[in-house]
Amino acid sequence: LKNARLEDWKELAANGVLSLLGFSVTLRFIPRIKDKFTEAGLFGYDINKKGLAQGEKKIPEAVGLIPATIYILCICLLHLFRQSNNVELYTAAFASVTFMVLLGFADDVLNLKWRYKLILPLVASLPLLVLYTGGTCVLVPRPLRFLTKGKSLLELGILYYIYMAMLSVFCTNAINIYAGINGLEVGQSVIIALAVLLHNALQLHPSGNKDNLELLRQNHLFSIDLILPFYATSLALAYYNWYPSKVFVGDTFCYFSGMTFAMAAILAHFSEILLLFFIPQLINFIYSIPQLIGIVPCPRHRLPRLNRQTGKLEAIRSNLNLVNLTLWIIGPLTERQLCIVLCSFQAFCCAMGLLLRVWALTWLS
Ligand code: UD1
Ligand code: MG
Repeated sequence: LKNARLEDWKELAANGVLSLLGFSVTLRFIPRIKDKFTEAGLFGYDINKKGLAQGEKKIPEAVGLIPATIYILCICLLHLFRQSNNVELYTAAFASVTFMVLLGFADDVLNLKWRYKLILPLVASLPLLVLYTGGTCVLVPRPLRFLTKGKSLLELGILYYIYMAMLSVFCTNAINIYAGINGLEVGQSVIIALAVLLHNALQLHPSGNKDNLELLRQNHLFSIDLILPFYATSLALAYYNWYPSKVFVGDTFCYFSGMTFAMAAILAHFSEILLLFFIPQLINFIYSIPQLIGIVPCPRHRLPRLNRQTGKLEAIRSNLNLVNLTLWIIGPLTERQLCIVLCSFQAFCCAMGLLLRVWALTWLS
């Protein structure tokens, strides 16, 4: 075990150094390359600043391509330092994230319709589905074991594959539709990434029987390998996307982010915890359903309205998302304030999720 810990530290140190490099390269590259996006026709107008000088400026769109590319490079290099024997699963996750970035960028370039947006992550999860050789059981929490006649593991078989595909579709789209104000897409991603990292760090050296212990260690290391470079490159993107945005992240980033979380959660087996971290996105998704399925008309953008006199955003109550709901509950806020409120709620949900996890460890297994 001592040897294993030493190897862990080597892998973690390599990851730390690569992530730090990834952060600084992303930070340097974005300002150098961003105008190329605008020149190529990839730009958007900052809707909530219309009428103000900034609202007329073309803001480069799909800049998430830069952190995503640097992320993929980090993951490639990190492979040189990996100890894990699950090379196939690692490759599968890597392929799905890469494919998702490609399709996300295609979406930004082609401006696809809603029904196609839903399908893209399903297509991108195929590399994982065909290469997946891991278990298809889920752990049943102790209080629910009366449903499985006392068994702690429930075999899901083909349903598990459907579950993996659905999780990829949910995570990607949930982030993409919780958006529209400066800093929100990348803000929520960075906070969730930090929560996932803390969750993994807390359990890197768990106690338990020997086989289980090795498996858990591999799982958490795997997740850290995927998430730490993501956290670093996204943080650099956040620097430019925060209010007032100098770049827009695009669907490239939203899909890249959601898919990275889905892969880490599926292959390191913590998807139930990830869903706790995704509570704001879940609320936003459920509240959005009437517009997503067309019962209530869904405009191209479901943003709040800017009151030019006060400079504050006001809720449009027929736009059913958490951004408008928050303004409806608390009252008008500036765009920056609103993003801080929503990011604080994200951090609160993640903290609760972590606390619940620590508490649940005592009765879950
Ligand atoms: C999703 C949302 C849409 C929201 C949009 C904002 C659903 C069903 N779709 O659509 O309601 O308006 O995200 O990203 O909920 N923009 C800003 N300020 C920002 C970020 C984006 O004005 O801080 C605008 C810009 O014009 C930018 C555009 O949104 O060009 C990007 O929209 P896009 O990501 O393509 O929209 P969707 O993901 O399709
Ligand atoms: Mg989007």
